Amino acid sequence: MTRKTYAHIDLAAVQHNFDQLSACAPNSQHVAVIKANAYGHGAIAVAEALASRVALFAVAFMDEAKQLREAGIDTPILSLEGFFDEEEAIWAANHNVWLVIHHLAQLERVERLQNPPIIWFKIDTGMHRLGFSLEEAPGLLQRFSHLLGPDSAVFTHLACADEVSNDKTRQQLDNLSRALSTQQTHLALSVANSAATVHWPSAHQRWNRLGIGLYGGFTGGSPELPQPKLLPAMSLHAPVIALRDLPAGETVGYGSTWRAQRNTRLATVAIGYADGYPRHAPSGTPAICHGQRIYLAGRVSMDMLIFDVTDCPQVALGDEVELWGSALSIKEVADHSGTIDYELMTRVSERVPRVVKRI
Ligand SMILES: Cc1ncc(COP(=O)(O)O)c(C=O)c1O
Repeated sequence: MTRKTYAHIDLAAVQHNFDQLSACAPNSQHVAVIKANAYGHGAIAVAEALASRVALFAVAFMDEAKQLREAGIDTPILSLEGFFDEEEAIWAANHNVWLVIHHLAQLERVERLQNPPIIWFKIDTGMHRLGFSLEEAPGLLQRFSHLLGPDSAVFTHLACADEVSNDKTRQQLDNLSRALSTQQTHLALSVANSAATVHWPSAHQRWNRLGIGLYGGFTGGSPELPQPKLLPAMSLHAPVIALRDLPAGETVGYGSTWRAQRNTRLATVAIGYADGYPRHAPSGTPAICHGQRIYLAGRVSMDMLIFDVTDCPQVALGDEVELWGSALSIKEVADHSGTIDYELMTRVSERVPRVVKRI
């Protein structure tokens, strides 16, 4: 590693988080959502770490499932966007990949297959992104009931589960009950994501789907409410590669947006937006060096950040800075940058080596 910039991945933290979250809903089974390279943590490493705990993984689309199968992961996998052509559906059936079905053409295509895959039937209860409408769902469930086997489920996705006082979740749960009220057979359901697993017991069903919480991200609610004790699974580090003293009045970085109000010591750190650090992080966004907070000064560059380290005089060349992780929550950096921890995790680029702490 030439540049000592890296993301440390703690697989024991992922296991701990899985255990904490699944304890919130002891009567459910839990799908581990490992799409987008396990939210940037490394899908194969996370799948291996969770394989003995998890009965079903979820990815966004088939290429992500193929990557896991090629790595020897043999746990069933759910493809959340289903399939795009017949070849994919056949491959899915042959490789124990379960398919989310969200429009009629998919149902008709699955019906024509000799060896149909396991399907999950998605209902749009209010998110309005994917799924059958509340009006069409009951009829389609009856018409295609022969495609629903013991591992099938009816599922929906919640739009606002992270907001504990938002009535949208209750409305979505009511919509789902209404859509299913005319069904003769008992169908397995899947509703809750991480936030609903923590905050909405009424959303717990046969399967809950855990994403952000597995990685120690924010599971919603308010900081005053009891939360499971989740641990950050990723911490992002980069070294100090230059130090300089700047007289008061001088400006820093592209666009000269930050001006020193006092004689200032600056540390240049080898990470930038090409590594996934958010370009919109404003001056004042914190990082940690020697256990102390230091603050971003000026715009984020492609490969470098500049921090005001005047109040941390021990900072020396080569010292390690934590951009987020155990000493500084990724949510805090996301809040500063006008985004969410999901985006920061998934955007850590390939040029940042993942240093995986195995169990
Ligand atoms: C359909 C679906 N289910 C579950 C999840 C996991 O949600 P979370 O990461 O909020 O736990 C996602 C994440 O985007 C999703 O798209």
